[in-house]
Amino acid sequence: RSLKIGVIPADGIGKEVIPAATRAIEALGSDIPKPEFIDLVAGWETFTRTGVALPKETVEILRSECDCALFGSVSSPSRKVVGYSSPIVALRKELDLYANIRPVKSVAREPGHESPVDLIVVRENTECLYVKQEILTTGDNGKEARATRLITERASGRIGQMAFELASARPRKHLTIIHKSNVLSVTDGLFRETVRAVPKLPKTNGKYDDVTIAEQLVDSAVYRLFREPEIFDVMVAPNLYGDIISDAAAALVGSLGLIPSINAGDNFVMGEPVHGSAPDIEGKGIANPLASIRSAALMLRHLGYDTGADKLDTAVDAVLRDGKVLTPDLKGNSTTEEVLQAVLKRL
Ligand code: NAI
Ligand code: MG
Repeated sequence: RSLKIGVIPADGIGKEVIPAATRAIEALGSDIPKPEFIDLVAGWETFTRTGVALPKETVEILRSECDCALFGSVSSPSRKVVGYSSPIVALRKELDLYANIRPVKSVAREPGHESPVDLIVVRENTECLYVKQEILTTGDNGKEARATRLITERASGRIGQMAFELASARPRKHLTIIHKSNVLSVTDGLFRETVRAVPKLPKTNGKYDDVTIAEQLVDSAVYRLFREPEIFDVMVAPNLYGDIISDAAAALVGSLGLIPSINAGDNFVMGEPVHGSAPDIEGKGIANPLASIRSAALMLRHLGYDTGADKLDTAVDAVLRDGKVLTPDLKGNSTTEEVLQAVLKRL
């Protein structure tokens, strides 16, 4: 048996860091089924070449041939371009990758942040304000803009289930539900109630009884995240709050070049470093590959290949703790390739 991995480096430094991740995966040897990499295209460059940012065959091959995928980063234009829409947003939708899971963990102690951070943000990926139903009308107040915020029992239930599953597998087994139901009692109320009900569902069968549950209003959650990040273990949030909290949490551990994520659904998982295409350093060979290698680890862990995932994480942690071979974003002077070599040596 082989493990078929769709590889979509996309734009900018995605093309420099994703190959590093595939080489790290290859170095795992028999800890995982033999990896088979399938090169696929998407992104801004693909759009300028072909007129579509996410070719149909990319989605088809992911669906029919791949077990999982690795995605780099896209360069989305900041102005509106007719016919262009972000391929990553479209992919999440096409493959129903309803959970965005982002672990944030400090390894070496960061000056100014003495408390070790070890948390996971689980963000609902399909609804909330991001259903993008916005309308603009003109009324007594001049222009009036309205947006629909959709929260469903189905989406809240499945993201809740994913969050409990992750929490129950961690040593602290603690889940914090992020919401603002003191103000938005209907939408956030439904999210909160639905997540809270997950451990009581017949199908969960007492599985999550040892997970402790806390709640935190989203504004004070950000405050506490910066003051006392150690109180958090797994955090689950609707789409918009999750987007903001996960970027805020990333700031706790230094460079964006360290933070991995996966987009996960019931049938597919796609690893993706959190950072963008970094046009300021593109082509210089100095992009930090560690976020991508960690994304590969997260993807493998989600598929149940814990031994392989542990090896990748341990190697990355060792390189960070050692602190000798680091890219410039971490105040080092090594290249992408040198950091990769340091990881491969640890593997
Ligand atoms: P960015 O994440 O690309 O860069 C922000 C800063 O962090 C830059 O100074 C960059 O050099 C640095 N950085 C990011 N990743 C790094 C790495 N691996 N190693 C070393 N340094 C790293 O965010 P920015 O500049 O706001 O966006 C640039 C482009 O990326 C835009 O077109 C944006 O739309 C896109 N983007 C795409 C994302 C995605 O594909 N999911 C996410 C965020 C932005
Ligand atoms: Mg974001």
